[in-house]
Amino acid sequence: MTPHSLSQPVPAPRLEIRNLVRHFEGRAVVDDVSLRIQAGQVTCLLGPSGCGKSTTLRMIAGVEMQDSGEIYVDGKLICDTVFRVPPERREIGLMFQDFALFPHLSVAENVAFGLNGPREEKRARVEELLERVHLTRFIDGYPHQLSGGEQQRVALARALAPRPRIMLMDEPFSGLDNRLRDGVRDETLSLLKEEDTAVLLVTHEPEEAMRMADEIALMRGGKIVQQGAPYNVYTRPVDRAAVAFFSDTNVLRSTVQGALAQTPFGQFLAPGVPDGTEVDIVFRPQHVRLDFDRQGGGPLPTPSDGVAARGVVTRARFLGHESLVEFRMDHDGSVLKATVPNVFLPEEGRVMWLTVRRNRCFVFPA
Ligand SMILES: Nc1ncnc2c1ncn2[C@@H]1O[C@H](COP(=O)(O)OP(=O)(O)OP(=O)(O)O)[C@@H](O)[C@H]1O
Ligand SMILES: [Mg+2]
Repeated sequence: MTPHSLSQPVPAPRLEIRNLVRHFEGRAVVDDVSLRIQAGQVTCLLGPSGCGKSTTLRMIAGVEMQDSGEIYVDGKLICDTVFRVPPERREIGLMFQDFALFPHLSVAENVAFGLNGPREEKRARVEELLERVHLTRFIDGYPHQLSGGEQQRVALARALAPRPRIMLMDEPFSGLDNRLRDGVRDETLSLLKEEDTAVLLVTHEPEEAMRMADEIALMRGGKIVQQGAPYNVYTRPVDRAAVAFFSDTNVLRSTVQGALAQTPFGQFLAPGVPDGTEVDIVFRPQHVRLDFDRQGGGPLPTPSDGVAARGVVTRARFLGHESLVEFRMDHDGSVLKATVPNVFLPEEGRVMWLTVRRNRCFVFPA
């Protein structure tokens, strides 16, 4: 411990949940989930449909009770299985999938709903927020006059208006088209950062998590399987499914002999793995290198790229910022995918040689 850390105690996390568990019909839907989020930080809860993301948020909001576990705000217990601060006194902002505006209130009144204080102050806050979500022109309109995406942005402004200490967001941008989404997302994020709010954002879109999160918590089957900065989660995935969550993947199956797994791309280290164990060597399409066939041969083996394997183009697609090329491999007829920046559309049937970046491959038990 350094003298600095002795004299300056780390503040309690703005939000901390410890060992939350929730069962439905005998099944643990949330299974021992713990998280800590500091003020001004965004954690994204990322995982497939049904993995327990919304249930976790609902327990923190207080609209669902946990079977066990505790919730703390700024180090103070707000909920365990005995003691429980009611939802409306938690000072937690909510923006859920099934948000609803008050139909009989104007846009301005909807946004001002949770605000106290002098009239002019409230009005100023409403104007500020509507400007941030690009809806100033609707200030005196009513919800039924707005599109779904516009209503969603009003709901966002309403949730942000009282400057909550914690903001729970469940797919808050899902109803917005792509172009609008980037803008609203960035605006929302800067607002929340300015106000030092701790944010727990649920999404099942990895790009959204990468873009927004200080930390990603990867959830599956009710458990958090990996947690860390986006870069770490992306580059050091814990298992094959964690790789697959962020991108297309290629998989080579092999059996370990003498701590090595042999593949058509050369051998991979499998330290500590017993002989006879099946492993998957997993890599992303963007880490495949392509070379043209030169009189029946490919590039020479290198320590960084291993051995080249031969494949035939079965399909090539232009995706905008990159091209996706699929190959049928000579060695076993399997399909491997490669992405290439910009436009690269080789014709079907063309022979090419594939190599993979060694340091971008992950070896997992099969
Ligand atoms: N009130 C309930 N009664 C019974 N089962 C429930 C209830 N609420 C949720 N579940 C079940 O718990 C599991 C997790 O649900 P949850 O809504 O937390 O998933 P999610 O991760 O938010 O999924 P999605 O991405 O589709 O929104 C699902 O299998 C769901 O059917
Ligand atoms: Mg959900």
